[in-house]
Amino acid sequence: APILMSSSPPGSLSDTASKAVSSSCVSLRSPSCGEDHGHSQAFTFETNIFSFLKRVKDYIQAAKSHMYQLCLEMEEGLSIMSHYVDPHVTQREIYRLGKSTNKCSDKEFSITGRTHRLKNSLHSNEGKSRRCILLLGNAGMGKTTLIKKLCLDWSRDSFPQFDFVFLLDGKGLTLTEPVHSLQTLLLDLSSIAPCCVDPDEVYAQVLAAPKRVLLIFDGFDELRDYESLLQTQEKDCVTLLQKDSKMQTFTVRQLYSAILQRLLLPGCTLLLSSRPRGAGSQLLRRVDALLEVCGFTSDSIETYLTHYFTDPDLRASAFECLKSSSYLHHLCWNPALCRLACMVLEQGRSSEDLPRTLTELYDKNRHNLSKNGDESDSKDLLLQLCALAWEGVKANSSSIPRDRTIPTKVKVFGMGMGILHPQNLRRRLSNEDNRNLEKKRVEGQSEKKGKDINSADCKDLILVWTCAFLQSYLAAVHLNVLDRSFLQALPFQTGAKCRRRPKKEELELTQRIVVGLLYHKKEKLQHLHSQTETVFRNTLTSRQGLAAKHLAGLSYSNLVPAQVLELCNYVYEASTKLATQLAENLPESLRFNGVPFSPPDVFAMKDALRRGGAEGRNFCLDLENTGIQISGLRALMSLNNINSFRACIADVISLWEQLEQSGEEELLQGAVSKFHIHPLKATQVCHIAHLEKLVNIHMNKSSQLSHSILADGVPAVKDLHKLEFDLEESKIEDEGADKLAMVLDSLTSLEVLNLSQNCIGDHGVKKLALALKDLPKLHCLSLYSNEISDEGAESLAAVLPQMPSLTQLDVGYNKLQGVGAQSLALSLRDCKKVKTLRMWNQCIPYGVFERLQRQDSRIL
Ligand SMILES: *[C@@H]1O[C@H](CO)[C@@H](O)[C@H](O)[C@H]1NC(C)=O
Ligand SMILES: *[C@@H]1O[C@H](CO)[C@@H](O)[C@H](O)[C@H]1NC(C)=O
Ligand SMILES: *[C@@H]1O[C@H](CO)[C@@H](O)[C@H](O)[C@H]1NC(C)=O
Ligand SMILES: *[C@@H]1O[C@H](CO)[C@@H](O)[C@H](O)[C@H]1NC(C)=O
Repeated sequence: APILMSSSPPGSLSDTASKAVSSSCVSLRSPSCGEDHGHSQAFTFETNIFSFLKRVKDYIQAAKSHMYQLCLEMEEGLSIMSHYVDPHVTQREIYRLGKSTNKCSDKEFSITGRTHRLKNSLHSNEGKSRRCILLLGNAGMGKTTLIKKLCLDWSRDSFPQFDFVFLLDGKGLTLTEPVHSLQTLLLDLSSIAPCCVDPDEVYAQVLAAPKRVLLIFDGFDELRDYESLLQTQEKDCVTLLQKDSKMQTFTVRQLYSAILQRLLLPGCTLLLSSRPRGAGSQLLRRVDALLEVCGFTSDSIETYLTHYFTDPDLRASAFECLKSSSYLHHLCWNPALCRLACMVLEQGRSSEDLPRTLTELYDKNRHNLSKNGDESDSKDLLLQLCALAWEGVKANSSSIPRDRTIPTKVKVFGMGMGILHPQNLRRRLSNEDNRNLEKKRVEGQSEKKGKDINSADCKDLILVWTCAFLQSYLAAVHLNVLDRSFLQALPFQTGAKCRRRPKKEELELTQRIVVGLLYHKKEKLQHLHSQTETVFRNTLTSRQGLAAKHLAGLSYSNLVPAQVLELCNYVYEASTKLATQLAENLPESLRFNGVPFSPPDVFAMKDALRRGGAEGRNFCLDLENTGIQISGLRALMSLNNINSFRACIADVISLWEQLEQSGEEELLQGAVSKFHIHPLKATQVCHIAHLEKLVNIHMNKSSQLSHSILADGVPAVKDLHKLEFDLEESKIEDEGADKLAMVLDSLTSLEVLNLSQNCIGDHGVKKLALALKDLPKLHCLSLYSNEISDEGAESLAAVLPQMPSLTQLDVGYNKLQGVGAQSLALSLRDCKKVKTLRMWNQCIPYGVFERLQRQDSRIL
């Protein structure tokens, strides 16, 4: 009987819940007078509790079957059962880039990590009571689909650890009236079943065992002012908690805030989904686990196509076409774009007629989406829709504000095209129900009868853009057709270096498509334009001139890495002329460290670099922490104008292995000789293992790689002069020092080794000491602020005279005392080269340190 046995944290039970609990318990507490009576009391209690539990169980069953129905459809017309392709989900390490390193970075977290299933992350739930998981992914990457699949699995009893799963929509935040309680939020606004039993009872059960509740917030992108959402004054929340009953009501925002701050339903598991920019990076601070949807691999694209094309002939030709169209294939990495591509492929186009840019992909779809209808009429409606789309892009919104009135015809047109979709925020209905409801509303409005059809339901209906890509496309059409706003479509207006805030995805897309339309789709635009042909041509030419001039006037050295990448994408949509112009101006050293690279990004970048090559230019690439796929690395390495590159060591080794297996000597040669790792700053524990792997290859100890190209070792290892361990969250400790000691003697060029603040103790330093004497060039060694005591200091002292190049040693802020300090000082006498030996710490007895320092001024 979970409700009686589980104890709720103090304060988490609302009045209602306490009442529900105590009414079930009342017979237990009431004194029994007389045996017979007592017997019947106990009997009543058992009957009560069993029927109560049965009702809750029934409710959960009903909720599950409701959830099942809701989640069957992935998108309109696509069944999750037949079309779902398991996306790759990666667990990311959360770590913040140091403040000084890259102030302009959009990203606060690194992009490396192991593949993990979301499921695993939820299953490893035990033990940790406070769990908050953030699922990140850009538009169209399949966050919602993944969540639906999760809910579907729950409804089929896949997650027995959760009695309740509540699915809330970030758009609920647009409901600003203070009319909700936690109970109505969970039972009315979430997509749980319509109540078939006493909601109070269900709610009491939820509160009694929050550990058995999974609360999902899908789509935090609509979030405004998230800082304040996460920092509501403590006292407000306490008030909220105490008063959360039916008498007191709140806004959705207040309730979300209290849940996120773990004041309401503490102990429940939270799953939030968001795009990485904006809200996503703010939420990071609150989460225990970070997952990212990584999109489709080549294999998943194939699976998706197999599901999509049931006709074998069509499927075969679609595969063929996609293979022949490289960029389109790269775009299919994004599931939503993959679907758009399928819709184009469905028309059985020849490979020449396939879209070559994003703009063309959307364009082909727009024409396909737009259903018959009167030409001129639909042109006007389309333009109105385009204006609305641009309004939304400007306001960072994927839904149409509830107070924005739109002509019914436009709504119907947008819904007919499948671009707008009515969504009920109050207890999600099926899509069918929503469409009917909206139809009723539209009819109701057009009749102007003021009939109050389902007014409560209609109030909570909003129109959302079904696809961020199409919304951006329409916005771009609007900008291109309208003279005045066109200038807003040119990116990097200010050129201001570090003040740039990350742009909303839709705006970036819109800007790209604007140039795409400008150069490739003249006829299509003219169709929408009311000017004569000559005027139209002149307008286009002058705008192309503006765009070229704008790009020429950019100060490339002031662009942050993410902007350089954005520019490559932008120019790829446009013309060869702009692309050549860009290629001439790209900085020679391109450091993308921390900027996420998707497959289409790689494609556009490669295109720009290749053009640069044609202009006789060479480049150095830094692709660390970009999440670039190995196939992407390989594509870039196939260019012959890359002088050197950096990337995740483990990925590069995988690339070498692939190249060795496929016998691509020339590529392997380049990928080995151009790879470099100096200066290496290890920021995560796994980096040590990666380095170890690389050194093993260098030493010809690797079983996978034994190619003659590597016979003389790995150039990157030989050229490593500086190695730093700056691990923010974890430390290397003795174990890591052990591992490091094993590879040190191979790093023969090492000049600087910085192991400060790594919790290394005597055991670790002993191992290190033995290896250190084999480093002929090491001149700076920092072991500052570790846990070395006298024993460790003595082993260091023993090797000190054998270190030929050492000039600086720092063992300050360790745990050595007089004995250790004295042996180091003694050893120092034989080391003429050493200029400074820092060793002060408060454990060295008073007087000892001062005396040593007087004897040898190099001691600090
Ligand atoms: C797309 O349009 C073509 C002709 O323009 C039509 O034959 C095809 O059925 C349409 N496809 C869809 C999915 O509407
Ligand atoms: C949209 O988002 C950008 C960047 O996130 C922000 O600078 C801008 O003020 C937002 N606009 C609105 C209307 O919220
Ligand atoms: C590497 O070692 C293997 C045996 O482990 C040996 O057969 C091979 O010749 C070595 N390769 C080079 C290039 O030294
Ligand atoms: C070693 O690394 C730490 C942390 O990054 C840094 O503060 C310190 O200045 C470095 N020391 C040397 C000698 O480079």
